[in-house]
Amino acid sequence: MSQEFPLPMPTLARSPQGLLIEQVALTDIAARFGTPVYVYSRAALTEAFDAYRRALGARRSLVCCAVKANSNLGVLSVFAQLGAGFDIVSGGELARVLAAGGRADRVVFSGVGKSRTEMRQALEAGIRCFNVESAAELERLNEVAAQMGRTAPVALRVNPDVDAKTHPYISTGLKSNKFGVAFGEALALYRRAAALPHLRVCGIACHIGSQLLDAAPMAEAASRMLGLVDRLAAEGIRLEHVDLGGGLGIRYRDEAAPTVDAYLAPLLELFKDRPEELCFEPGRSLTGNAGLLLTRVEYLKPGEEKNFAIVDAAMNDLLRPSLYSGWHAVMEVVARDAPRRTVDVVGPICESGDFLARDRDLAVEEGDLLALLSAGAYGMSMSSNYNSRPRAAEVLVDGREIHLVRARETVESLYALECPLSSSRS
Ligand code: LLP
Repeated sequence: MSQEFPLPMPTLARSPQGLLIEQVALTDIAARFGTPVYVYSRAALTEAFDAYRRALGARRSLVCCAVKANSNLGVLSVFAQLGAGFDIVSGGELARVLAAGGRADRVVFSGVGKSRTEMRQALEAGIRCFNVESAAELERLNEVAAQMGRTAPVALRVNPDVDAKTHPYISTGLKSNKFGVAFGEALALYRRAAALPHLRVCGIACHIGSQLLDAAPMAEAASRMLGLVDRLAAEGIRLEHVDLGGGLGIRYRDEAAPTVDAYLAPLLELFKDRPEELCFEPGRSLTGNAGLLLTRVEYLKPGEEKNFAIVDAAMNDLLRPSLYSGWHAVMEVVARDAPRRTVDVVGPICESGDFLARDRDLAVEEGDLLALLSAGAYGMSMSSNYNSRPRAAEVLVDGREIHLVRARETVESLYALECPLSSSRS
């Protein structure tokens, strides 16, 4: 791949010192914090959020960042300070939002498997809405709320059965998916919810998939949602908000991802004269192109069929290539005047699936730094400790400043909760 492709990350730039993120050289970050390290740009996070705010204008709306895409407290705090809401899928994510200074009354709770403990935790905190995904969950939530003497605000996550035309692993709006309640069952379930004394029906939600590159399926889903809203209103069940989930795709390589404006335009048109508040749960489009993974080449290993650049990051740090054949641009941090070789960029993990990029033309030597771009979403949040690898550090750049927002894990911390058995049996 040529060096000259347009960078997908808005705050990354080439300079004589190598790549800069905002005003900081990636070489400085590597020198101070080591590698592998995730690097985020505050300006890019802010701009991505502002794009939603600008497009929504004066319309009553709430943008809830999907915490699963990037759950670092530093990143969440940037959004909290911008007045964002949050979309969570676990008690753990709720705790993170609160620790980052997010407001509970701007939290929506999605997910098919909410436990009683998580329901209690969310009711205690006073979240804005539970996006309920099944009949059984509706009954359980009513029960838990009753025990606490509370009323739970609910929306049903309705499966609109539209094809989001994305990778099957991240497509969620089809009948065959585990998510949401079937469109055909929604009316009956809303009637049930309205009759349960400890629930307050307040909205409707859907989420059809991720990395959407076409705005049409979302508009189709939204109009199906509105059909339901109107039928419910005719029965006296009035919804205050419509949550259209996340899903807007980003450019990793040469994808023509719609702008936030283009993505929202048909939806805003559809909702033009409607009183409902409009909510969104974007993840990737807020954080994806605000972050990169910085790694160092440990070895070059030329082979008969393939050349490998073995780096110090691996599939445990960035799983997307292995799991979804996700493509991330790889850039030399400091350009070198040397011949390019076609290499696979792989990690030290003992799996053939441990690759970060394949067949890239790079001019690299041992010890060089490489940046894997567009790694701000579903990067660190999907990382693991496989092969007992401490997780990477995370830093957030703000102008010239560098904030360490997660220290590199220590090996000891990996087994701090474990214990060996004593040698004698009792
Ligand atoms: N809301 C709900 C209910 C979701 O399930 C998701 C993502 C989002 C919002 C945020 O979607 P986004 O705006 O980020 O597309 N790990 C995969 C993506 C999984 C997405 C799961 N749900 C990847 O790395 O591509």
